[in-house]
Amino acid sequence: MDRVKINQHVSFSNVIQGFWRAKDWQWTPQQLNRYINELVERGITTMDHADIYGNYTCEGIFGEALKLSPNLRNHLEIVSKCGIILPSNKIEQADGHRYDHSKKHIIQSVERSLKQLQIEQLDAVLIHRPSPLMDPHEITEAVKILVKEGKIKSFGVSNFNKSQYDLLSKCLVCDKLHITLNQLEVSPYTLDAIEDGTINHMYKDDVKMMSWSPLAGGKLFDLEDEKTARITAVISPLAQKYQVTTTAIIMAWLNKHPASIMPVFGTQKIHRVDEALQGMELSLTDQEWFDIYTASLGHDIP
Ligand SMILES: NC(=O)c1ccc[n+]([C@@H]2O[C@H](COP(=O)([O-])OP(=O)(O)OC[C@H]3O[C@@H](n4cnc5c(N)ncnc54)[C@H](OP(=O)(O)O)[C@@H]3O)[C@@H](O)[C@H]2O)c1
Repeated sequence: MDRVKINQHVSFSNVIQGFWRAKDWQWTPQQLNRYINELVERGITTMDHADIYGNYTCEGIFGEALKLSPNLRNHLEIVSKCGIILPSNKIEQADGHRYDHSKKHIIQSVERSLKQLQIEQLDAVLIHRPSPLMDPHEITEAVKILVKEGKIKSFGVSNFNKSQYDLLSKCLVCDKLHITLNQLEVSPYTLDAIEDGTINHMYKDDVKMMSWSPLAGGKLFDLEDEKTARITAVISPLAQKYQVTTTAIIMAWLNKHPASIMPVFGTQKIHRVDEALQGMELSLTDQEWFDIYTASLGHDIP
C-alpha cells in the first residue's frame, strides 16, 4: 500500500478507515479489534475519528478495542477532530449546537479524545468545520501548546474553503506551524471541492487531502436517486469491462486525481474494503474519468 507523507513525523496509508458510524455497528470490543487487525493486514493503518462521533462515544468504543492488543496502537495513525459542539449529556459544555474554536475547547477536546482512545498522542488533529467566529490566533495558540506538550504530531482542518484555509494558514506560519491536511467531501457524486478550486489550492501548498464519504455515504448505490442513476449508467459498463465492482471504479476515479486524495471509508464490511483496494490498483483512461465526471455534472464539459 502506498503511503502519504504528512510531515517529517508521520505518514498515512493512502486508504483510511473512518469510525463515524461505529456506534451503529454494535460490535463487541473483540469484533472491532478483529476488524482493525484485518485493516492493518491490508496496509490500512490510518483511522479517522472525531470527538462527536456516535454522540461522543465512538472514540471510547475504539479505545476499548485497542486495549485488547497493547501493541496494535504502534501500527496505527490515529486522527481526530474537534470544534463542533452537539447537544449531549456526555460532556459538560454540550448544551447546544455551535462551533467552538477557542484555545480552551480545542485543548480540552484533544485531551478528552486521548483519554477516550486510551492513547498518549494523536497523529493529527483537525478542526472539524470552519466557524464564522473563528479566531486564527486562538487556534494557533492551541496548536502551539498541543505540539509542545507532545499531544499531536500534526495539525489540519476539515471542510475549509480557500479563504478559511488562507486565514488560518497565514497565522500559523508566523509560529512556524502548518496546516498539513484538509478533509473534504469528494466523490463522483460530490464534486464541489474540485469545481470551486479548493483541491487545487491545497495541492499548490502541498496540503494533503482526505476525502470523506468517498461513496457518498452509500448514496452512490441508491438507484432511485437521479444523479446516482446517471453515474451508474457510466460506471456499470466499466465495472464489467474491468471485472470489478462499482466501489472499485469509484476508487479508481478518485485515485486518478493528481493530488493523491486519500479516501476515508465508512464501511464495516471487509469485502467492500477489498473491492476498494482493487480499485486503487486500477487505471481508468482519461475518457473514462471524464465520462463519470460529466455524468455527475449532468451536462457535457465546454
Ligand atoms: N470531516 C467531516 O466533516 C466528515 C463528515 C462525514 C464523514 N467523515 C468521515 O468519513 C468517514 C466515511 O464516511 P461515510 O461513512 O459517509 O463513507 P462512505 O464510505 O462514503 O459510506 C459508507 C456507507 O455506505 C454504505 N455502503 C458502502 N458500500 C455500499 C454498497 N455497495 N451498497 C450499499 N451501501 C453501501 C456503507 O454500508 P456498509 O457498512 O454496509 O458497507 C456505509 O453505510 C466517516 O467514518 C468519517 O470518519 C468526515
